Parts: sequence; C-alpha cells; structure tokens
Amino acid sequence: MFVPDVADFEVSCVVMESCILPCSFQGGTDVVIHWIQVTAGDLHVHSFYHNKHQLAHQVQRFRDRTSLFKDQISRGNASLQLTGVKVQDQGRYKCHTSVIRGNKESFINLKVDGMRNTQIH
Ligand SMILES: *[C@@H]1O[C@H](CO)[C@@H](O)[C@H](O)[C@H]1NC(C)=O
Repeated sequence: MFVPDVADFEVSCVVMESCILPCSFQGGTDVVIHWIQVTAGDLHVHSFYHNKHQLAHQVQRFRDRTSLFKDQISRGNASLQLTGVKVQDQGRYKCHTSVIRGNKESFINLKVDGMRNTQIH
C-alpha cells in the first residue's frame, strides 16, 4: 500500500468535481513546469515550457482535464487544476518547477472521496 510522505501536502477531491493541486515556486522567466503522477509509474499529467502548455506526452486519462493558471505562472503559481476527478487520480503527484535560479520539487498527495451523499468505500 501507498504510505504518504509526512512532507506531502494533502488535498482531498470529490469524484466528478474539479480540484486544485497547489504548487508554488519563486517565479521568474523561462519557467519549466512538469506535473507527474508518481503513483502508477510517473505518468505525465501536464507540462509547461517555452511559455506554452506542452501536452504531447500527456497520458490519455488526463486529456482535456488539466489546466494551469497561465497568468499566474510568472508570479510563482504552478498550481494544477484538474476537472472531472476520477478514482484513479488518487495518489501522489510531483510538481517540478525550474527557473534560472534553480529547481524545486514538491509533492501532493491527492485523496479522492466518493460522490457527495454516496458511500463508495
Ligand atoms: C494559484 O492561482 C489559483 C487561481 O487564481 C488560486 O486559486 C490558487 O490559490 C493560487 N495558488 C497559489 C499557491 O498561489
């Protein structure tokens, strides 16, 4: 079973709703962002570099479901918005950011709860 790292930031999301995986860094120009789902084998969730979203390597399950707050990226906000949350989205995510001043990695542990008024567990 997956054991969350104590340093992970915990986020709870509800099935079929949208949620935000927070990630912040120092900000700057020439920003590189990689969001990876570590659980399930380093799946590519969303990338951003050369001032563009880069989705060529995105795994199918996340297609049309991810976005970043583009106007906030230069200010150091690399948070990922995920829509239509699925049970398979549960797990550990890595937010990798890189600017000229250096790289940063942070980890989010996403917990998916069943639909409201429904006990799935
Ligand atoms: C990033 O921006 C989004 C959208 O404005 C906001 O909801 C979120 O709180 C921001 N996160 C950080 C870490 O600043």
